[in-house]
Amino acid sequence: MRIVLGVGGGIAAYKVASLLRLFTEAGHNVTVIPTEAAIRFVGVATWEALSGNPVSNSVFDDVHQVNHVRLGHEADLIVVAPATADLLARAATGQASDLLTNTLLMARGPVLFAPAMHTEMWQHAATRANVETLRSRGVAVLEPASGRLTGADSGPGRLPEPEAIFDAAMALGQGQSDYQLPLAGRTVTISAGGTREPLDPVRFLGNRSSGKQGVALAVAARNAGATVRLIAAHMDVPAPAGVEVVTVETALQLREAALTAAADSDVVIMAAAVADFRPAEISGTKIKKRDDTADPVITLVRNPDILQELVEARHAAEHQAARRHQLIVGFAAETGDSQGDVLAYAEAKLKRKGCDLLVVNHVGTDKVFGQDTNSVVILARSGAEPQLAAGSKTEVSAAVITRVSQELNHVSPRA
Ligand code: CTP
Repeated sequence: MRIVLGVGGGIAAYKVASLLRLFTEAGHNVTVIPTEAAIRFVGVATWEALSGNPVSNSVFDDVHQVNHVRLGHEADLIVVAPATADLLARAATGQASDLLTNTLLMARGPVLFAPAMHTEMWQHAATRANVETLRSRGVAVLEPASGRLTGADSGPGRLPEPEAIFDAAMALGQGQSDYQLPLAGRTVTISAGGTREPLDPVRFLGNRSSGKQGVALAVAARNAGATVRLIAAHMDVPAPAGVEVVTVETALQLREAALTAAADSDVVIMAAAVADFRPAEISGTKIKKRDDTADPVITLVRNPDILQELVEARHAAEHQAARRHQLIVGFAAETGDSQGDVLAYAEAKLKRKGCDLLVVNHVGTDKVFGQDTNSVVILARSGAEPQLAAGSKTEVSAAVITRVSQELNHVSPRA
């Protein structure tokens, strides 16, 4: 496709360099048109080097080519990121004050705006009206992501991640004119990694979970436009950018963090490998081997079942305050045995835990843990046909997040 990438004058302009790379690596021919203000954040040289095309922001450059007419007519798609409050206002009122706004007026193909600004500016009545105007004309305006903004402030107004804008742009380019990110406006809490239960100051009981699946889910949810809270137990991989991270160690800490985060989440996904048991006693000092006493015996006690508690807390909240339904997703690692196969155990677990979806892994020691690929069955409480998803953990995560979006489809975002 021939893409015009309009860049507005906001600090998020630096993230658009990654978006440009995604476009060029996918084989698209991109012409960047920054505004005057955008060039104060990221210079022309960056845009020219990354796009391989000349960059201008004035209608008075290369006048003989009548650039705004040519670019507007030739573009299969125009993407504006970051779309600042000023740029949305100029586009909504049809101004033609620079090359980008001229090009927008000449556009024949689809146009996508990815806004980024402070929350107050995004929520201001003037901006709301401008967004409505643009949408009423068939322009796609993405919801901004929520989270940390430029200063100490946080809230809706973050530029959606480059991968999310890329996905939206591709959908729009393929004719999905009303495309919105499937989890825009939703808050998704995801637990990931393996808990560690201390025995003494230097030892713990742990498990083989790498956190890869939970992190891949967090990325997929973030790319689908959600505000993501990642509750990270021990992980071998770093947490992704653009998500809020709460670090925990034990099952009890994970429980506390999950119940708190769940209170205002639309979706909770329990991908963490939570220890079912913890040592009854934690020694304050290192347990020493001695010849004069018997070897120590470790007594274990049950940890609470967090998934089940989340389901109970949801029921209680719905009962008290007519709260909107929350979608709860569990993971199950099953081996199957002589008493039952993987699916039979998983179906019993889905019933027992009461969650809406259960993502079932078939495990052997060489499968799942620490690996990059996975093969799962998604079971639904609604009784829908089990759905198979296989491939990289990224692909499996995309399938799970798509399924979550579909389940949420008929429920509006929480107020
Ligand atoms: N889970 C949880 N709290 C626990 C243990 C597990 O919330 N104390 C969650 C996991 O995050 C996962 C799901 O429950 O989403 C299934 O965990 P699994 O260990 O497979 O199931 P168990 O209930 O432990 O059943 P079993 O050991 O009999 O397989």
